[in-house]
Amino acid sequence: MPSTDNVMDKLVSLAKRRGFVFQSSEIYGGLGSVWDYGPLGVELKKNIKERWWRSMVHAREDIEGLDAAILMHPRVWEASGHVAGFTDPLVDCKHCKNRFRADDPRIKGTPGQPDAQCPVCGSRGTLTAPRMFNLMFKTFMGPVEEAAAVVYLRPETAQGIYVNYLNVLQSSRQKIPFGIAQIGKAFRNEITPGNFTFRTREFEQMEMQFFVKPGTDQEWFEFWRHERMKWLVELGIRPEKLRFHQHTKEELAHYAKDAYDIQYEFPFGWQEFEGIHNRTDFDLSRHQEYSGKKLDYLDPATNERFVPYVVETSAGADRTALVTLVDAYGEEEVAGEKRVVMRLHPALAPLKAAVFPLVNKDGMPELARRVYDDLRRHYNVFYDDGGSIGRRYRRQDEAGTPFGITIDGQSTADATVTVRDRDTLQQVRIHTDRVVSYLGERVKG
Ligand code: GAP
Repeated sequence: MPSTDNVMDKLVSLAKRRGFVFQSSEIYGGLGSVWDYGPLGVELKKNIKERWWRSMVHAREDIEGLDAAILMHPRVWEASGHVAGFTDPLVDCKHCKNRFRADDPRIKGTPGQPDAQCPVCGSRGTLTAPRMFNLMFKTFMGPVEEAAAVVYLRPETAQGIYVNYLNVLQSSRQKIPFGIAQIGKAFRNEITPGNFTFRTREFEQMEMQFFVKPGTDQEWFEFWRHERMKWLVELGIRPEKLRFHQHTKEELAHYAKDAYDIQYEFPFGWQEFEGIHNRTDFDLSRHQEYSGKKLDYLDPATNERFVPYVVETSAGADRTALVTLVDAYGEEEVAGEKRVVMRLHPALAPLKAAVFPLVNKDGMPELARRVYDDLRRHYNVFYDDGGSIGRRYRRQDEAGTPFGITIDGQSTADATVTVRDRDTLQQVRIHTDRVVSYLGERVKG
């Protein structure tokens, strides 16, 4: 592996060069910590989301899907605690106008006091005392920009699930325990964003809220944290790069009784990319109180009434995509030449195979086109007839394409092709009739 300090630089440059991730509004100088997914990145992220959806919603009888709107009634965010509590303490430098989190380790001294020194311009005594800053993006609904018209871009998708909990329960005829899963955008006006797509201001979450009877919550919490770790390992992420981190009392969010982060060892350290939270009945009780609508559950078996507890699994789609990219990145020497290879799990790989006519004559392009047309009815595949075969392989190694299918001189004689494996570099020769099923066995999600 290359040294850790420049892996992120190399990844950012590969991501741009190959069309995984671009900076938002780049031609205007970019928009801070907002990113766009290019042709390869959109496929990778879509594959992750689809796999998550399948494992949560389709593979289980006890979880339903939902797609709630980003804009919600502003009272939702009062009930959830976000208006009062989703804040970071910030200090401003009155001299250079930069803004920092009050706990920024670069600040020497106590903000607000004469001894404090600005970490950017170096002035002393110019830092204000900390002020609380809410991380929610605000906008106005309707034509009038007044306090009564304020709405927020949701900072988590979870609340859309809580406010629809009764709708889903009644329309799906589920019984507790059951869950609701949702994938969607969330927005946070982060003060210290960074590390590429790790902490951004617009991102996507894959969240599942599992509603359980109070008293069974710790059991379900344990169940879900192990399920989530298993899912990540099955995604091909190296297990030694994954670990749990249990929240200390100080780290617990206002709604949580117990919480584990799943962390990955990024080049910039161990960091959370998914959380499993025991949110108790905090959210449903608060929505009951603020909306005046009853949200309790009548257990048909025991005739007991209770407000369900919620066990939440909350993953960032972008952070999970970043984990898969970082984890896949490899550099090695092959036959005296350096190759960069993205060892993405075949089910996640944006392109499943690339088809190459060895040369552009002798019937090879015609046969290669036929193989390509067969394949693209089933998979996202790529046709490349430009440059030497070695260069074409290397381009696909960088894109993470697990298989390279080459049509050579023998192919036109006996209708066989070679299939090169991205990771082992082994080549096998198979009949063109078998190419679709050969790939199917190896790339299924
Ligand atoms: N509903 C619970 C919740 O939102 P969180 O720990 O604040 O919990 C869950 O966020 C996940 O969402 C994180 O583990 C991360 O993957 C993703 N996430 C949160 N803030 C993010 C940001 N600014 N940029 C990218 N992903 C973020």
